[in-house]
Parts: sequence; structure tokens; C-alpha cells
Amino acid sequence: MKATARAHPNIALVKYWGKRDRVLNLPAVPSLSLTLDRYHTTTTVTWETQTDSVRLNAEAICGRPLQRVLDFMDRLWGPHRPCVHVDSKNNFPTAAGLASSSSGFAALALAGMAAAGREASKTELSILARQGSGSACRSLWGGWVSWDRGQKSDGSDSHGRPLAPQNHWDLRMVVAMIASGPKSIGSTQAMIQTEQSSRLYPGWVEAAPNDMVQATRAVLERNLPALGTVMEASTLRMHASMMSAEPSIRYWTPATLSVMERVEKLRKDGVPAWFTMDAGPNVKVLCDSTRADTVADTLRSCCEKVDVLQAGPDAFLL
Ligand code: DP6
Repeated sequence: MKATARAHPNIALVKYWGKRDRVLNLPAVPSLSLTLDRYHTTTTVTWETQTDSVRLNAEAICGRPLQRVLDFMDRLWGPHRPCVHVDSKNNFPTAAGLASSSSGFAALALAGMAAAGREASKTELSILARQGSGSACRSLWGGWVSWDRGQKSDGSDSHGRPLAPQNHWDLRMVVAMIASGPKSIGSTQAMIQTEQSSRLYPGWVEAAPNDMVQATRAVLERNLPALGTVMEASTLRMHASMMSAEPSIRYWTPATLSVMERVEKLRKDGVPAWFTMDAGPNVKVLCDSTRADTVADTLRSCCEKVDVLQAGPDAFLL
């Protein structure tokens, strides 16, 4: 009754922001992501323990984060769930806008089902992982992954889908770490606040399907300028929609803007590089493998830490 799984976080190029169903985490928009290599979450699930317990990065968690995991285990098991122990470790900053919930719930779904001795397809695991955290449904696959909005109210048509494998395109994602501490407001709460009060939210939802078409084509054709352009448009629209929520949500800091300016300057100087930001101040920069060192060196002077990553693998059992 024990299994260990590893999953890698994914960074959305076309963002998921807003839900058509909050309980099932059904998105209001389609999205597209790149799963990263070196960062990962490793999770061991043991069923039929004496009590329920969850450890994250070697510390017992309690309160709402604990309840979120236990609710997920209820969903995974169904009625009469036995007690469970979950032990999860990230080798990168947790809850800092680096998508730790995407790798976290993908690894938990895979390890939890395997430890229960249940067979599940990748698509079934993706549907399950989505209910823990929306973006987790894309981390079952490596490389380039899309997530359909779907139409059905039970969510059976809203899951990750591999678009192109890990070795499809030799790009780099340069992660400019500005702050590694937890974010000021969690993404679930921030999304709800945006949906409920932002005048720009309807415009965000309306623009997403076309972003998705452009980005999908750009990935399949390996057209970096086209992908970079739509990726920046998507992140800027998402942040504009949340900044215009009431109260306003702003994850950017002066350092975030400084990185954005440096990326624009790099582009003017002939280095093709584009930025994207999630629910945190950190910036991820997409560029060609041959330009990654130039981009990383340029960003080092204004960031806590810079990591260069590339496309990562599917989630797997250890
Ligand atoms: C900005 O998947 O963390 O990273 O479904 O409420 O758990 P919940 O949200 P989450 O949101 C991720 C938002 C994002 C964009 C993205 O990954 O597409």
C-alpha cells in the first residue's frame, strides 16, 4: 500500500486564470504549458496508516493546506477511505509562483493511485490531478501540453493533452528568481477575486481561445517569435485582469519590472527572448538554447538566483 512518484512543474505559456466550476477546477479558458526538467516534486503515499498525516519538505503541515490534501485523498479513494500518510518534497521553492502545486498534485495523483493498487490512464490521472490544482492536470506529461476548457459539467472533457514531446524543440526557460518566499495571495483566491470584480476579466476570457490557436501553431511549427509574442500577450492580459480586480491583485515587484525591461532590451539588441509571469514576482524567460547563457548573464545582476531549464519528462513512478 505504498508508492512513490515524481512529477515536474509546468509553466503556462497561454495561461489558465478563472474557473467555470470551482469545485471541479474547470477552467474558463484553455491553456498551454511547458513541463520543466530539473525542478521536481517527489511524493510517497502510504495507505492504511494509524492516522492521517502529511509532510511537505520534511515538515508536518496542518490547517487548510492539510485539509486540501486530505480532501483530494477522499476524492481519489472514494467512500470509506483508510488513513493515509503523504510525504512530499520539492527540490525548488514551494508556493512562490514556480508552479509547485502543478507538480505536487500530479505526483500525488500518480503515487496515490499506484499505492492503492488501482489502474488509471494518464487522462484519468490528469482529471483527478486537476481537482487538486487546475494546473496539475498538465504535469502528467512532459514537453508541450495543452489543457482543454471542455464543455461538460462533470469535467470529463477537461484534461491535459500532450501536444509535442520533450525532445520536440530545444528551447530554454530561464527562471529569474526574485523572491523565493510564499506569495502574498494564493492563486485560487486571486482567481475568484478577479472573476468577481475585474472589469477586464470578460476581455481576458474572450481573448484566450485565439491565443491558444496561435500558440499551438507556433509550437508545432517551432516558431519562437510567434510563440514568444502570444506568450507575453497572454501573461500581460492575465495580470491586467487581476490588477483591475477590487481589491487589486499585484504580484509584480520593481524587480519584476526590471527583468521585463531587460528582456525587452535584449530583444532590441537582437536576442530573441520573451517573458512570462505567474502568481508571484518571479519571471520566466523563453529563448533559444544558444542564447540562454546571454539571457541568464543579463538577468543575474538584478535577481536573487537564475536557473536555466529545458523541457522535462512525463510524471513517473519511482
Ligand atoms: C498563474 O493551478 O495554482 O500559474 O486550480 O486554483 O489550484 P488552482 O490554481 P493553480 O493556478 C495556476 C495559475 C497560473 C497559470 C497557469 O498555470 O496556467
